[in-house]
Amino acid sequence: MKIELRNVSKSFHKDANTIENLNLTIPDGELVALLGPSGCGKSTTMLMIAGIYKPNDGTILFDDEPVNDLEPKDRNIGMVFQSYALYPHMTVLDNIAFPLKQMRVPKEERYHRTKEAAKRVHLENFLERKPSELSGGQQQRVALARAIVKEPRVLLLDEPLSNLDARLKIEMREEIRRLQKELGITTIMVTHDQEEAMTMADRIAVMKEGEIVQYSTPIDLYQQPQSYFIAQFIGTPPMNFLKGTLLSNGTSCEFKMRETVHALPIAPPFQGEKTVYFGVRPHDISIGCEGDLQLKGKVLLTESLGHASLISAEVEQTYIRFMTSPQLRPEIGAILDLAIKKDALHVFDMKTGERLG
Ligand SMILES: Nc1ncnc2c1ncn2[C@@H]1O[C@H](COP(=O)(O)OP(=O)(O)OP(=O)(O)O)[C@@H](O)[C@H]1O
Ligand SMILES: [Mg+2]
Repeated sequence: MKIELRNVSKSFHKDANTIENLNLTIPDGELVALLGPSGCGKSTTMLMIAGIYKPNDGTILFDDEPVNDLEPKDRNIGMVFQSYALYPHMTVLDNIAFPLKQMRVPKEERYHRTKEAAKRVHLENFLERKPSELSGGQQQRVALARAIVKEPRVLLLDEPLSNLDARLKIEMREEIRRLQKELGITTIMVTHDQEEAMTMADRIAVMKEGEIVQYSTPIDLYQQPQSYFIAQFIGTPPMNFLKGTLLSNGTSCEFKMRETVHALPIAPPFQGEKTVYFGVRPHDISIGCEGDLQLKGKVLLTESLGHASLISAEVEQTYIRFMTSPQLRPEIGAILDLAIKKDALHVFDMKTGERLG
């Protein structure tokens, strides 16, 4: 099912909108992540789609039909909250069957569908246990089975993995993704973990202060961040930022850093002078070879990641980190020639945060 939010606003207080004129289309069968820092309005957006909060303004449509006036129970939504909210005194079987009981599905069919849902999340051998006798990941899967058992048209997941340890998180990520694809169910997932969003989602809506600042595929978000805010939010280790002044004549430019000036074969979309951040991802900085921007870096630390060395260095009083092959382990204090290719440079206006190229 396609979900659309048109000019949706929501305020809890008279003087400020929590959600400001939000527009978002979630294509049928896709998994879309709402990603952003704490308090930016992710859960509020989700709860409006569920019908638990009413927007003050705008329209929410399911398959082109406005649903603003539909009660949550009539929207046919499966939801998993951050705290799974399982019933502690009920068995796994009864927990999963609960929504069907509420819908007065006959006993026989209820049992059959509950077992089917439990099987999908690999819990068929745990049906008689109580939640307290399950691991965190198993409890998470009960919550997931309970959300899918009524075959909802939409699945809403609010921070579904936040209570799990690192290994279980990765397992559950794959599990949710597999289930979502198998069922072809339109899914919205709230997270503040960029890696979770990047690995699971077909598209990511990055939110900041109640607005969507970019809505793209994970790869576009990584390769073409539209603002400084997004660039520093996406990617691990994070992007490096070199401050300086960019002098452009429209076809070529000069980048003035603290101590050095570099002529660059790039054409920024403006003429004149701007203070900018040059963003460079850690794997786009190399030692020694030719590049369009050549810098000197003083090694502060070398860490081994097994498959690569992660080097921290100082470049004109800016702290940067980059990756090299695992054999390269430069000494602390060594001065390195660093090279960056022009295609690896992301340029952001320091004042507005906007991408300039
Ligand atoms: N029921 C409510 N009454 C008043 N203010 C609310 C209510 N729900 C949310 N807010 C406010 O709206 C803003 C957005 O909250 P929301 O829960 O949507 O954030 P979030 O992005 O989900 O954050 P988190 O990652 O911390 O869960 C916050 O400033 C919050 O205090
Ligand atoms: Mg929230």
